[in-house]
Amino acid sequence: MASFTEIMPQEMTDNVFKLIGEDWALVTAGTEECFNTMTVSWGGAGILWNKPVAFTFIRPQRYTFGFTERGDCFSMSFFDEEHRAALRYCGSKSGRDVDKVKETGLTPAFSAEGIPYFEEARLVLLCKKLYAQDLAEACIRDDMVKQFYQDDYHKMYVSKILRVLKKA
Ligand SMILES: Cc1cc2nc3c(=O)[nH]c(=O)nc-3n(C[C@H](O)[C@H](O)[C@H](O)COP(=O)(O)O)c2cc1C
Repeated sequence: MASFTEIMPQEMTDNVFKLIGEDWALVTAGTEECFNTMTVSWGGAGILWNKPVAFTFIRPQRYTFGFTERGDCFSMSFFDEEHRAALRYCGSKSGRDVDKVKETGLTPAFSAEGIPYFEEARLVLLCKKLYAQDLAEACIRDDMVKQFYQDDYHKMYVSKILRVLKKA
C-alpha cells in the first residue's frame, strides 16, 4: 500500500466542496484500544484564529459522538471512489451494533499522536478540537429546523488541522 507524505494544510489542492460534500469522509475518534468511525458529508475547512481548521457537525445520537466528546483529537479520512461502499456502510450502520473495521475491511492506522485513521485513505486530516458547541434552535432559520431537526441538534466542532497526510 502506498505510504503517506505529510503536507501543510495550505498545500491541499482538493476542492473542499467536492471533498466533503461529494466524496464524503470518515470521522474516526478514540484510541488504539477503542475507536469508532462514521461517514460525514457536512463540514468545511478554512481559517479561524489564524489557524487552519476543520468544521465538523455530529449528531449526539451517533456512537462516534461519545468518542469525539471524550478525546481531544479525531481524524477525517478521504478515499477514492473504490471505497464508496465502505463509506455507505459506515454511514448507515452504528458501531454499537457492528464491527465496521471487520465489515468494511478497512485497515486502522494510528498517528504519532495516537489518532486513528485508515491506511486506505488518500488524504487524512488530523484534527484537534478547539471549540465545540451544540447548534441552538434559536439561532437557526425556521425552515432549516423544520427540514433537518426534531430534537437532536448537531454539535459543531471547530478543530485545528494538526497535520495533513497525503498519498502521492
Ligand atoms: C453520506 C452520509 C453523510 C453523513 N453525514 C453526517 C454528518 O455530517 N453528521 C452526522 O452526524 N451524521 C452523518 N451521517 C450519518 C452517520 O454517518 C450515521 O448515522 C452512522 O451510522 C453513525 O455511526 P455510529 O453510530 O457508529 O457513530 C452521514 C451519513 C451518510 C451516509
